[in-house]
Amino acid sequence: MRGDKIVILTGAGISAESGLGTFRDEGGLWAQHRIEDVATPEAFARNPELVHRFYNLRRAQAAEAEPNAAHHALTRLQAVWPDDVVIVTQNVDGLHEKAGSAAIHMHGALTRALCAKCDARWDAPAQMCRHDRCPHCGTAATRPDIVWFGEMPYHMDEIAAHLQTCAMFVAIGTSGQVYPAAGFVQEAALCGAATVEINMRDSDMSHAFDTHLKGPASKVVPQWVDRLLASA
Ligand code: OAD
Repeated sequence: MRGDKIVILTGAGISAESGLGTFRDEGGLWAQHRIEDVATPEAFARNPELVHRFYNLRRAQAAEAEPNAAHHALTRLQAVWPDDVVIVTQNVDGLHEKAGSAAIHMHGALTRALCAKCDARWDAPAQMCRHDRCPHCGTAATRPDIVWFGEMPYHMDEIAAHLQTCAMFVAIGTSGQVYPAAGFVQEAALCGAATVEINMRDSDMSHAFDTHLKGPASKVVPQWVDRLLASA
């Protein structure tokens, strides 16, 4: 049944003003590295040291980063309606949690490690390497707990249930180029949700949104949250 649920999808753009580079903006991560070299299971099988180096660096950068006003505004919103504000993030940087929000991590988290052999998960050390052993089965098959291209994102059933029952779907700082997240707006709209896009510029999915709020997330998100709380 449709209530007052708001589903908020976040992407790299919400963390840009915290100093973490996005993937596809000018000079972004995918301009510096080839996806096929660092973000696929095949890349890890071929050259685990390179893949670990890439994520070790990103883990160190995320550990240094602080949430910005956009993350804090979402925490404020979730504190008012804890059962009705669902944050789904493609980000692995942990900034929603640092700001005090709860988020569903569909692409994993830099702070977690995963055993490719037995699927055990544990807190990742600051630096991972290919000789690290799984604390559960002892195999040297540990990898970052990150969803790579060609793998199934996490929590899809839970996310689908939220999309089908939300009154509003909001996407913040995501280019709409990576599925399944890119398709969430259409899924929510089909089920009757109002849709809002917050981004610096048009995304590949802009056409699917009812409302567009353009500008940096650190400005636009707090303003949107203020308006929503004032109208409640
Ligand atoms: P992208 O780098 O593809 O897109 C970032 C989006 O944020 C763009 O649409 C920008 O216009 C917007 N943006 C940049 N700075 C902003 C700001 N200050 N305020 C508001 N918007 C801003 O990042 P994602 O869409 O998150 O997956 O990428 C999706 C997935 O592709 C990632 O989770 C990652 C990547 O490959 C995996 O690694 C599996």
